[in-house]
Amino acid sequence: MTSRRQFLQQSLAVAAPLIVSPAVLGADSPGNRINVAFIGTGNQGMGLLKRFLARDLGNVLAVCDVNEGSFGYKEPEHFYGRIPAKKMVDDAMAKKAKGGRSIRCDAVSDFREVLDRDDIDAVVVVVPDHWHRIITVMALEAGKDVYCEKPLTFSVADGRLMIDAVRKNHRILQTGSHERSNPVSQFVCQAARAGKIGRIKRMVTKVGFNNKISPPPGWKPMPVPSKFDYRSWLGPAPDAPYHQDRCLYRFRFHYDYSGGQITNFGAHCNDMAHWGMGLDTGGPTEIECQNASFLPAGSLFNTATQTRFRCLYPNGVELVCESGSEQVQTRFEGTDGWLQTGYDGTSASDPELIAGCPQKPRGIDDPHSSHLANFIDCVKSRAEPRAPVETGHASAVLCHLANAMIRLFPETGPHRIAKWDAANEVFVNDDAANKMLDREQRDPWS
Ligand SMILES: NC(=O)c1ccc[n+]([C@@H]2O[C@H](COP(=O)([O-])OP(=O)(O)OC[C@H]3O[C@@H](n4cnc5c(N)ncnc54)[C@H](O)[C@@H]3O)[C@@H](O)[C@H]2O)c1
Repeated sequence: MTSRRQFLQQSLAVAAPLIVSPAVLGADSPGNRINVAFIGTGNQGMGLLKRFLARDLGNVLAVCDVNEGSFGYKEPEHFYGRIPAKKMVDDAMAKKAKGGRSIRCDAVSDFREVLDRDDIDAVVVVVPDHWHRIITVMALEAGKDVYCEKPLTFSVADGRLMIDAVRKNHRILQTGSHERSNPVSQFVCQAARAGKIGRIKRMVTKVGFNNKISPPPGWKPMPVPSKFDYRSWLGPAPDAPYHQDRCLYRFRFHYDYSGGQITNFGAHCNDMAHWGMGLDTGGPTEIECQNASFLPAGSLFNTATQTRFRCLYPNGVELVCESGSEQVQTRFEGTDGWLQTGYDGTSASDPELIAGCPQKPRGIDDPHSSHLANFIDCVKSRAEPRAPVETGHASAVLCHLANAMIRLFPETGPHRIAKWDAANEVFVNDDAANKMLDREQRDPWS
């Protein structure tokens, strides 16, 4: 790997006359501007990068992705990776410079090159979930502030390491739970939290159905594309033959890299449930899976296709989370009424409860963008961001506990209620479930 010194020397050697270090740009210098790198420039990474540039939140000094560039992300025509990301940054910088001097953005495939640079203050980590732990902890240890996408973690154990690294290194970490920056979600969750519907008794959350179709049993491995570093994409995950539907965007349907829609959607709707209930740390005392369906054995995707779980919190509140319509994201039922928020808006038992609820902002002020802006503000002010590491961990833990129950469901069936010791983060007397709280990291990442 290139050392920081070698790297700086190389940068100076190859810099074109019109491309200069941000340190000499005066008002646009690091004193006033935050220097960032984006690690992971796929579906969500490109979306965040576009918003970052549109709001001119700082200098993007590097983009990093193990994919040089290819079609075939969420939709076949989506062309993402480090080269299209660099082009996006270069175009934005050239437009801003109006023919004058522009800031150089490097495109690299190894995130350690980014972490090794002392001119980068913060990183935006938008890689698949199985990489969050390693990249985030290494970034924090390297003194970077981190925006890490949701679900914050791949496993329960990941979150503990991240919390320790944030607090030990006095860093800012924003979990990418952008609903925390959505004025509609803020209105509803804060109303529930403030007791506007009395004491909360029950919460219902919904996760979407799978939106991609799995290659069926009998699928054949594919040759690895030449511009894609598949070994590095797999990283700490178990070895597996390449197939395009394992990787870009579709990683979320494989338990080796993510947790299906329970962690994908669940990291939002269950986070909102915690927020509205006033739970910033900790978790439920018991949890059970009531329904889970899977694809036929041998299919490439292996996460559950339809689920329902129920859990109970120390304050007696019940949460039910199920696959279903996206019209409801999170619903709060209290002693004096109910309130809910969804992709199509809010509703309540009494219209007065949602009088004054703002519209969801679009465009440059959308929640993803405001959430990034909140991160950058906190990098500057050192204040806590809206979705600090502990809340990101708590909501991810709930999704991981649910997945442990869901994955055991085909063997055990319903009515298996697991007891969770939130203080020690272990299931009580449940070896099978406890085995799912961590995963060995494949060498050299162990
Ligand atoms: N906040 C939201 O609403 C939201 C929406 C979508 C995705 N996400 C999250 O963003 C993350 C990425 O999801 P996505 O849909 O963008 O996936 P994606 O597959 O489209 O993009 C991930 C990118 O990371 C790259 N990558 C993988 N390993 C890497 C490594 N070691 N170093 C550098 N790059 C690496 C891949 O090549 C790919 O380009 C996930 O955690 C997902 O849950 C959040």
